[in-house]
Amino acid sequence: MAAGRLIVLEGPEGAGKTTQLRLLATRLENDGYRILALREPGGTPLGDSIRGILLHSPGDISPAAEALLFMASRAEIMERHVDPALDAGVIVLMDRFFLSTYAYQIAGRGLDEANVRAANSLATGGRTPDLNLVIDLDPADGLARAALRGSHDRMERSGDEFHARVSRAFAEFASDDWQDAHEESGRIVMVDGAGTPDEVHNRIMKMLAQNLPGEFGMLDEVKRQ
Ligand code: TMP
Repeated sequence: MAAGRLIVLEGPEGAGKTTQLRLLATRLENDGYRILALREPGGTPLGDSIRGILLHSPGDISPAAEALLFMASRAEIMERHVDPALDAGVIVLMDRFFLSTYAYQIAGRGLDEANVRAANSLATGGRTPDLNLVIDLDPADGLARAALRGSHDRMERSGDEFHARVSRAFAEFASDDWQDAHEESGRIVMVDGAGTPDEVHNRIMKMLAQNLPGEFGMLDEVKRQ
């Protein structure tokens, strides 16, 4: 059986990843692909408990403990869902994966890069995404969108400077130099997050066809554009 594909949507707060993941999953399912859509942190009973702690704990969490909690949720979802689905030939779509750790915990919190990468390798078992789509949006616009969704969670309350560091990190990931130095990340491309959800969705479909032509190059909608 052909191996599945791991496709990750990433980006700063309010970039529209979750909407785009839903549109993408529906589109691909309608085209007959077998899809598993997941989000991090979460996606398992343990991961959902960890998500509650990370996003809604009233007290402070130290940066290292925060990083390790994200990793624990990741280790669990890899073993229970991601690895078995990929082995069964399913296309796994993830709303965030470890580029978020690199942006939020290394660039944002200032944790040591080598230590975080080593811990991440334990959590992922060395699994490399086939494609990371980083949705690019001005941080102020993203935080304003996130605020419209309602109450701020613990990560969203981390301050403007923190979120500016996170956004700058995401913007750097697609550069050749960064990708050459981080082979575990797989291919990373930026998607312009401006415009309507449908406009962003069409950009994502084109990126899929360009970067994974064997799997997605034949989609009618992409061919027509
Ligand atoms: P979201 O799923 O609503 O985007 O919320 C997840 C939050 O957790 C978001 O603020 C990004 C943050 N996060 C990290 O800081 N590190 C990680 O490794 C992941 C997966 C998420």
